Amino acid sequence: MNIVVTSLKGGVGKSTTSIYLAAAAVERGYDPVTLIDADPQASSAEWLEVWPVPGITVVEAPSERTATRAMIRNESLAVVDTPPGNERVTQAAVALASAVVIPTRAGGVEYSRVLATIELIPARIPRGVVICAARLGTNDLEGAIAWWKEQKLEIWGVIPERVGIAAGPEARLSREGLKGYDAVLRQALRGWS
Ligand SMILES: Nc1ncnc2c1ncn2[C@@H]1O[C@H](COP(=O)(O)OP(=O)(O)O)[C@@H](O)[C@H]1O
Ligand SMILES: [Mg+2]
Repeated sequence: MNIVVTSLKGGVGKSTTSIYLAAAAVERGYDPVTLIDADPQASSAEWLEVWPVPGITVVEAPSERTATRAMIRNESLAVVDTPPGNERVTQAAVALASAVVIPTRAGGVEYSRVLATIELIPARIPRGVVICAARLGTNDLEGAIAWWKEQKLEIWGVIPERVGIAAGPEARLSREGLKGYDAVLRQALRGWS
């Protein structure tokens, strides 16, 4: 299983989502779990270097070729973090995906970039949106949820804005983040486990 986390837009929560999904998979008993970091910026690889999560193996694969190879070699569960703005890598990764998770934000969203991402995903592959760093109870969030529903896209999760969930080598994984992303993982694995 290759769960691809992607959006052509940067700074939406791809790396955070990738790491939490991989950690949630470990907690669900998947072994081994691989995090394939296809972003040359390697932010998720760097984070896991500082705070290793037992059970997650990191493979840095910062090109279309290396990412494709890592995904084909994977025989268990892999989560694939992808670079922003790279249609070739995104397209190669989604073509081999068992499921695609699309992190997005509520408010100030460039919906056209998200829709362009979705257009790259082959029709047969399940996909869902995760609203990251959401401010619960705001009109922005309500509006975003309504908009995605209108687009007939499944919302697989709403992750609240929390300093404790925020990505980066300064941070350990938070319990609340793991819980929220476990629900996303369950959606992504529907029909596979
Ligand atoms: N739930 C959240 N609450 C607060 N900050 C978040 C949350 N999710 C992501 N962030 C922050 O948003 C920024 C972008 O996230 P990141 O995962 O690096 O996105 P991408 O990989 O798409 O560029 C980072 O500073 C990260 O810490
Ligand atoms: Mg990233």
